[in-house]
Amino acid sequence: MSQLQPTVRYLRPVEQETVARDSAVAVRPAISVVGLGYVGAVSMACLSHLGFRMIGVDTSEVRVEAINRGISPIVENRLEDLLHEGCARGLVSATHSLVGAVLRTDVTFVSVGTPTAADGSCDLSYVRDASRTIGRAIAAKQDYHVVVMRCSIPPGTTRNVVVAEIEAASGKTLGEDFGVCFNPEFLREGVAVSDFFAPPKTVIGASDMRARAVVEGIYMAIDRNAIFTSIEAAEMVKYADNVWHATKVAFANEIGRLCKAMDIDSHDVMDIFVKDTKLNLSPYYLKPGFAFGGSCLPKEVRAVSHLGNQLGVKLPLIDSLIASNERHVEQAVELLKPFAGKRIGMLGLTFKPGTDDLRESPTLDLMAALLAAGENVKAYDANVRMTPHMRGQIAYLKRSYPKLENLLEQFDVLRCERVNDVVDNCDVLVVSHATEEFRRAVTMRPKGVAVLDLARLFRGPQDKATYQGIAW
Ligand SMILES: NC(=O)c1ccc[n+]([C@@H]2O[C@H](COP(=O)([O-])OP(=O)(O)OC[C@H]3O[C@@H](n4cnc5c(N)ncnc54)[C@H](O)[C@@H]3O)[C@@H](O)[C@H]2O)c1
Repeated sequence: MSQLQPTVRYLRPVEQETVARDSAVAVRPAISVVGLGYVGAVSMACLSHLGFRMIGVDTSEVRVEAINRGISPIVENRLEDLLHEGCARGLVSATHSLVGAVLRTDVTFVSVGTPTAADGSCDLSYVRDASRTIGRAIAAKQDYHVVVMRCSIPPGTTRNVVVAEIEAASGKTLGEDFGVCFNPEFLREGVAVSDFFAPPKTVIGASDMRARAVVEGIYMAIDRNAIFTSIEAAEMVKYADNVWHATKVAFANEIGRLCKAMDIDSHDVMDIFVKDTKLNLSPYYLKPGFAFGGSCLPKEVRAVSHLGNQLGVKLPLIDSLIASNERHVEQAVELLKPFAGKRIGMLGLTFKPGTDDLRESPTLDLMAALLAAGENVKAYDANVRMTPHMRGQIAYLKRSYPKLENLLEQFDVLRCERVNDVVDNCDVLVVSHATEEFRRAVTMRPKGVAVLDLARLFRGPQDKATYQGIAW
């Protein structure tokens, strides 16, 4: 490993001090980067700016030549300056030989393309080829080597494809001779250099602590608060992020088309929308759980879909929401199929805890579907007492939702007064509210009673044989 003094003018002053202090003591790993496209070229340039010795590898003659001459192979703001600087300092070079590059470095970043294959899947052929070649190089290496996947790939690929290919080609063992990390790249083209030095987050999924420490050390000057997780979760984070970004764009554009049809300024609407950081741009509503319900969400989604229809504005994303929600209720029905003929106990009836509102509660939909399938169901909810108000609600639901009629006819018999009336007399508990009362009830349940958790009652893992979540 080489000891190098970086120039760090792209970092904020406090980070410059950190790098200067660390560089006095730190020994920096040399890094090879396979795939000199948008991700690879930016990583090369930015890491060389931090003082790392970088060797780029690409099959493209043009890209290798360009990098060796300090010229950017792609159009990207500030990239050429950094590559030029890296070459002038003797920190940046490029080659066609991946084996040679791996042998001369301590860490290999893999940023080859993962395009869409003809069948819509992710084409892993470049990843596979690069991994095999890295494996051949590791076979000839004495020292521990770290492979860092930066491509966007389906969860499981790092372990099942990359590690498998490296182990097969090298005859060496993960965790002993080499380590692997999945470290997703979150840069946006056009501002990729700025994003590299000020990332929205740094995520590291590592095969072992040694590999993790190496990658954490590389990012120390940029982000001291890296998030550590499993390799598979890190792979999935990248997909979740990009699907979410696409959802945001599609949503904003559908609201925009609807606004235009009504002569409303969509930017006025969305400027106000984004100011709400409590419910709109926040973690709220973003944790997997049970289906949405209540007096507002389903009704308003239907109203907006109808409005689009009336105005001749197509809103495929918004139109898909009710179907997606219904699919989630069906998922619960499917997960309960192994309990056919057994006693099913439901904890929670209202659409969320802390209310007595039964309108459009997905738990009622689930219960109705189970009854329709002939299942034996009982339910408890502390907020559902047979007060005059509740009787009024039930009468309203009977009138408005014919699919609930059978359930509501028997409601007095199916509803239990005490939590233990359900817990002590069922084979499986279905819990839709994450409350202390239900956590306690689930923890104290009789031996042998299974649980379907719709609300993520507990953070930690539960006994897989008897406990499952709807989406975890
Ligand atoms: N472009 C982005 O903004 C961005 C952001 C985050 C993540 N990603 C992901 O990063 C990965 C790379 O994306 P990109 O846009 O930089 O790709 P790119 O197509 O611009 O570059 C990939 C490079 O890899 C080279 N390559 C392929 N196989 C090789 C091999 N065996 N040996 C050496 N070089 C090889 C290609 O010649 C090409 O130059 C993809 O998985 C992508 O999804 C991209």
